[in-house]
Amino acid sequence: MTAQLLPFKTLVYDYCGLVLEGIAEDRLRKIVHSNAKQTGCQNLKEYERLIRSSGERFQQLVGQLTVNETYFFREPEQLQLLTEVLIPQVLAQKIDAEPVRILSAGCSSGEEPYSLVIALHELYGRRTAELFQIDAGDLDLTVLAKAQAGIYSEFSFRGVEDSIRQRYFTPQARGYELAEHVRKQVNFYQLNLLAEEYPVQLADYDIIFFRNVSIYFDLETRRFIHNKFNALMRQQSILLLGSSETMGNDLGVFELVEHAGQYFFIKGDAYRPVSSQALSWLQVPADNPRDADFMPLAAAHVEIAQSSEPVLAEALTESTEQASLTHAVMNFPFADLGSIQQLVHDGEQQRALRLLESFPERSEERYAVCLLKSWLLLNMQAFSEADELLEEALTLESWSVDAMLMKGMIYKWQERLEEACQWFKKVIYTCPECWPAHYYLADILRNQQQLDSAMKSYQTVLRILSANPSAGKCLVWIPLPLAVADAVFLSQRHTAQLASTLQTIRVND
Ligand SMILES: C[S@@+](CC[C@H](N)C(=O)[O-])C[C@H]1O[C@@H](n2cnc3c(N)ncnc32)[C@H](O)[C@@H]1O
Repeated sequence: MTAQLLPFKTLVYDYCGLVLEGIAEDRLRKIVHSNAKQTGCQNLKEYERLIRSSGERFQQLVGQLTVNETYFFREPEQLQLLTEVLIPQVLAQKIDAEPVRILSAGCSSGEEPYSLVIALHELYGRRTAELFQIDAGDLDLTVLAKAQAGIYSEFSFRGVEDSIRQRYFTPQARGYELAEHVRKQVNFYQLNLLAEEYPVQLADYDIIFFRNVSIYFDLETRRFIHNKFNALMRQQSILLLGSSETMGNDLGVFELVEHAGQYFFIKGDAYRPVSSQALSWLQVPADNPRDADFMPLAAAHVEIAQSSEPVLAEALTESTEQASLTHAVMNFPFADLGSIQQLVHDGEQQRALRLLESFPERSEERYAVCLLKSWLLLNMQAFSEADELLEEALTLESWSVDAMLMKGMIYKWQERLEEACQWFKKVIYTCPECWPAHYYLADILRNQQQLDSAMKSYQTVLRILSANPSAGKCLVWIPLPLAVADAVFLSQRHTAQLASTLQTIRVND
C-alpha cells in the first residue's frame, strides 16, 4: 500500500466504515489520482486538503467508492421466504392496525425496496399500502436520486419475469419507468449506517433487510451496525442479510435461525422457526415472555407437527407436492381438505389459500372451506372478507365453535368489544372447554377494568389447561389461535398482576 493513500482510507473508514483493501484499494488509487487531476490539484496531498475542507468534494469521493451493484428480485428465495413465511407470521403477531414496518438498509438505487413492494403487491394487492410501510436508506445521494426517479435500464431486470416488468413498468426513451403506486410506497432517506444518530423516522421495524452491504465492513463496524439495528427493531423482529453474508454476521446481537435451508436473524422468539422453537417450547423464560394475543403460525406448527402422521408430513414436503395436491383436490375432495387443513396448520398460508380457491363453490365441504379460508384471511387482516365467509359458515352450522370464535377474534381486533364479548360467550355456552374464548374474554374484561371478572376468566383458562393440556378440541377445522404454553404463561402472569392490583385497591378502600 502506498503511504499516500492512507489518509484517504482513514477518512473514508472513519466516516462510513468502508474498508478499502485489495481490489477496493486499487479502485481508491485510480479514483483519487483522477479526481486530483480533474480538480487541478498538483498532488494527492493537495487533493487531501481539498476534501478535508469541502464536504461536497468528500461526499463525491465516497459516492465513487461505494459499490452500488443491485437489481430487481435479487436472491428471489429470500423474497419468497419473506412473503410466504415471514410476513404471514408478522401479520399474525399484530394486535393493532399498525402497518408492518420494513427497512431496506443500503438500498442503493431502489431495486431492493421496490422488489419488496412488488412481491407484496402480488399477494396483497391494493391492501399493500395499508398493511406495509417500507423505508429505505443509503449513504450515496446519487443512487438515492436514481431510486426516487424510478427509471431503470435493462441491467436492473436480470432477475425479473417479463410479466412483472409488463405489469409494473412502462417503457420509456430512457429505460423503464416504475409504476407510481409502487414508487409512492417507499420512503427514501440518506442514511449513514455508521452515524451515531439515524433519521428519527427510522424506528420500530418488524423486518430489516441489510443485504450485500456488510461485506464492505470489518467486524467492529458490523457489530456497531447490529447494535444500531437492535435499537430500531421491535421486540419481535427479523433481520435478513444476503445469503452469503449471514454466517459472518453471527455476532451475538441477534439469534441466527434457519428455515428450510435459509438463514436469518431474529430478535425475541416469536419468529423462531419450528425446528429450533420446539426446543424452547416447553419453558418460557420469565424475562422473555411472548406477550402476543395471537399465536404465530410457526407456533401452531409445533403442536400439529407432534400429532401429524409422518407419511402425510413427508408427502407434503415432496417437490411435486403442489401438483399432487392440486390433482388430489380435483379427484378426492374430502381427503384433500384434510391436506389443506394440514397446510393451514403448518402456516403455509398462501399455498393453502390457492388450493382453497380451486374448490367448487357448491361442494359438500363448503362449510370447512369457509372456515379455513376465513382463518387465512383473518391472519392477513382481511376482516370483512373473513367475516362474510363466517356468516356463510354459520348459515350452514349455526353453532359452529370455529366460526363463532373467529367472529369474536375479528371484533376484538376491530375493537368492537361488546360484540366480541357476545361471540366469545356464545362459544363458551356451546363449548365450555374452549379455553381460547375464555382467554380472549379475559383480555377484554381486563382492558375494560373489570378486574374481578377478568381474573376469574384467566383462572378458568388455567383450570381447563391444567386438567387437560390438550383441551381445545372443540375447534374442528382451525388451529388454536394461541399456543398452550403462551396461554398458560400469560394467564398466570395476568392473574398475579390482577390479584396484586385488587389487593392494593382493597387496602386503599
Ligand atoms: C451492493 S449495494 C446493495 C444494494 C442492495 N441492498 C442489494 O442487495 O441489492 C451496497 C449499498 O450499500 C451502501 N452503503 C455502503 N456503506 C454504507 C453506509 N455506511 N451507510 C449506508 N449505506 C451504505 C452503498 O452506497 C451501496 O448502495
